Amino acid sequence: MSLPKRIVLVGPMGAGKSTIGRMLARELGYRFLDTDRIIEERCGANIPWIFDVEGEDGFRQRETAMLEELSTEFETVLATGGGAVMRAENHPLLKKHSTVIYLRTSVEQQVERTRKDRNRPLLQNDDPEGVLRRLFAVRDPLYTELADIIMHTDRKSPRLVVRQLVNRINPKTPRHQRQMRKEGRNHV
Ligand code: S3P
Repeated sequence: MSLPKRIVLVGPMGAGKSTIGRMLARELGYRFLDTDRIIEERCGANIPWIFDVEGEDGFRQRETAMLEELSTEFETVLATGGGAVMRAENHPLLKKHSTVIYLRTSVEQQVERTRKDRNRPLLQNDDPEGVLRRLFAVRDPLYTELADIIMHTDRKSPRLVVRQLVNRINPKTPRHQRQMRKEGRNHV
């Protein structure tokens, strides 16, 4: 079994896409890319600033352009923003040549993991939990429909999620094979 050409992580804010994505990329010997971080680098400004000045719509346009640009990057793990599934035109860009992984996370965990965050403009209000609940109701079916793999992340460490993902994707990663050779084992 060969590795997927590219892996795309989708899921809500606080699902752990960046942390898990970076670790998964290391495990597979792939490059890690994060649409939000690249948008910020290109813009020379952070996401709250982009939302402030260009509105959510301006940010979504940048996001679509970035997904398009990155859709032919292979041997990569790509972390996407939680709202990347909201535009239908993004769906083929997410799916093309990709194994799409949905990091499914309860609203309770999302609240916990984003509690102190100041970099997510959609949550800077009186009722971030209500926002996360409403977004989940709309987006969960979209993530689910796009996903090749649905991985639950609640009460799991990033390490455990990565191990379970590697087993789902391909149990024979380069690192795993090295380990096998070191141990003098030639089978899994
Ligand atoms: C958003 C999620 C954020 C970021 C922006 C909008 C959303 O990314 O793209 O603040 O609409 O859910 P993360 O999911 O990485 O937090």
